[in-house]
Amino acid sequence: MKKSVLVLASLGLTGALMLTGCGKSDDVLVVGTNASFPPFEYVGGASGDEIMGFDIDLARQIAKDAGKTLKVENMNFDSLIVALNAGKVDFIASGMTITPERQASVNFSEPYYEATQMVLVNKDNNSINSLDDLKDKHIAVQLGSTGDIMAKSYSQQVTAFNSGFEAVMELKNAKVDLVLFDSEPAISFLEKNPQLKMVELDFSPEFYGFAVAKDKVELLNSINTSLSTMKQNGGYDAIVNKHMK
Ligand code: ARG
Repeated sequence: MKKSVLVLASLGLTGALMLTGCGKSDDVLVVGTNASFPPFEYVGGASGDEIMGFDIDLARQIAKDAGKTLKVENMNFDSLIVALNAGKVDFIASGMTITPERQASVNFSEPYYEATQMVLVNKDNNSINSLDDLKDKHIAVQLGSTGDIMAKSYSQQVTAFNSGFEAVMELKNAKVDLVLFDSEPAISFLEKNPQLKMVELDFSPEFYGFAVAKDKVELLNSINTSLSTMKQNGGYDAIVNKHMK
């Protein structure tokens, strides 16, 4: 008698553990992001601590189409792929550029946004007019971003920060010569920092995709189906108009 109670109790415990296991349930889709990348993802809203933006709206529709609710996990940009492959998040929506290096460890959805790198400098700096001018400059970037990788190909002096905000602070304090960052967030930082200006150089286009673990083929298909439906029914354009100027 005692024994069976014990067995049942331990079964109950295992069951409970299995259910709560990794903090995920079947009706929740967990998206990983780094919310320091306006207008794609940032912290704001009435409460001041809501994670919102272009990617989050797309991700919410993706979850809705899959009959699930969206849960957002905010983390450092360079932790996202590790978290994805550890099963901590189901997909990444973080303005992540599709690159062959990343494609070695994750699958990407169809591209959903075209961007490019942009240079931010203090207004009085007229020394950057071509890619060649970057080579003797001190560049601030976001750790693990394409800007980080690219900056290192131009200059020996690159300092990487956990967020674009921190890189911009460093520029405003004249600790670096420029920030190399994606175009839309660069524009968004510019609006809040009138002492800065943007310099457009000849960088190649980049395409953002949602990242999914290699073995989650069904999820990848459902993300792609949601994206193409949104592109056809005007949902995508509405989200663009809501977030982009
Ligand atoms: N597009 C760049 C990359 O993929 C930067 C993305 C940064 N995203 C973010 N949410 N902080 O590396």
